[in-house]
Formats: sequence, structure tokens, C-alpha cells
Amino acid sequence: MKIEPAQSRLVVALDFSNRQAAWPVVELLRGIVGMFKVGKQLFTAEGPVLVREVVGAGEKVFLDLKFHDIPSTVAGAVAAAASLGVSLVNVHASGGVPMMEAAAQAAGGTATRVLAVTVLTSLDAAQLQAVGFAEPPNCLVLRLARLALTCGLAGVVAPPTEVALLRKELGPDFIILTPGIRPPGADRQDQARVATPAQAIRDGADYIVVGRPITKAADPIAAVRSILQQMIE
Ligand code: C5P
Repeated sequence: MKIEPAQSRLVVALDFSNRQAAWPVVELLRGIVGMFKVGKQLFTAEGPVLVREVVGAGEKVFLDLKFHDIPSTVAGAVAAAASLGVSLVNVHASGGVPMMEAAAQAAGGTATRVLAVTVLTSLDAAQLQAVGFAEPPNCLVLRLARLALTCGLAGVVAPPTEVALLRKELGPDFIILTPGIRPPGADRQDQARVATPAQAIRDGADYIVVGRPITKAADPIAAVRSILQQMIE
């Protein structure tokens, strides 16, 4: 893979409490990473103004709000995300077929792609069983990913451990985005299941999401360069 496609596949998680903390990272890394992820914390604090600002600066945004509601509400939220100009937004696959179909339809004709979150990686088999999901987690991930595909969604968010299987089962065109990426030797922090950038790309991920290994690095630009290099190895 060439260096430029590697750049476009690197998504940096802006896990910050406010604009003051997040914006310097955008300024520092704009042009050298592919996308910025705005999640629930930063969005709840700063709202769509910040998203418009990042998009307005010419950067791509993954709006990671994991919508899960009745179909018409999710459709409205996806349409609102599309009107902000975000490149990616996501919904919970467990919201069901009509909800996913409504989400896909709401993004139709826009440049926004809708991804499905299958199973939260924070839930193990026992926790899933407690809320009524008896299937083993990896079967559940595959079932929900297949459902997302048939509903017309563009792809899934998947833990790095599931990327190879999903790529094999769902074909080359379905987007797979994976967080939980750690360069070799890096601190795992609270991530239980991790992969290196090289492994995730080899397994077939289209996008890797990296947060703290870049944003908390003493030299974030050097961290980005090193990750990009690993992605093309
Ligand atoms: O700092 P770190 O690289 O662990 O950040 C990863 C990002 O991906 C965080 O924003 C986190 O919420 C998100 N994420 C994750 N694991 C998932 C889903 C999302 O780490 N299963």
C-alpha cells in the first residue's frame, strides 16, 4: 500500500472534554491523518458547531454517536449528521432491520456513510447473556454485520480480533473500521483486545481508529508517522 492511502485510513479519536483541548490536535494533525473521530463526550460538550468547524477546515469527520432509537428518530439524526458533512456516522445494529434501513435511506444520495456497531467490546458472553443474547459473541457479531449489509449500510465497526473473519464473510466492498489499535510495545491502557496497525490492515480493515497512542504521545506527529509506516509494511 502507498503512503497516501495509509493516511486516508488513519482515524484519530478526539477523546477530549472540550474544544480547547481538541482543537490544537486538529491543527497539529490536519493534512497528515485521514479523519477525526468526534464521539459522545466532545459532541455533548461542544455540539455540531465543533463538527462544522472541523469539516469547514477541510478535514473528514467520523461522528461516533452510535444512534439506537425508533427508525424515524434515527433517520432524522442520520440526516442531520449528513447535513453537517460528516464522512461517517454509526448506529447500533441491535436497533433492528427497520431502523438500519431507515438510517441507510436517510444517508442515501449524500456523501455520508453509515456504519453499524455490532456488539460493544465491553460486553463479554456472560454480560450478553444477562441482557438476553444467548449466542456466542463472535456469532452475534457476524449475524449483526450480515444484517447491516442486507439493510444497505456501508460497513461495520468491529474489534480487531473480528476483522479477518468479517472481511472473509462480507466481501471486499463492505467498510470495516476497527479501534483498539496499539503499535508494538505500546501501553494497552483499557483496551482488552488489541491489534497492531500492520495486523489490522493485513486482516482487511479499511480504517483504523487510534486515540491515546497519538494524542497522548510526547510527539504526536512522530507517532502518526510511525503508525503510517507500520500500515504500509
Ligand atoms: O485511545 P484509544 O486508541 O484506545 O481510543 C480508541 C477509540 O475508539 C475511543 O474513542 C473508543 O471509545 C473507541 N472504541 C473502542 N473500542 C470499541 C469501540 C470504540 O476503543 N469497541
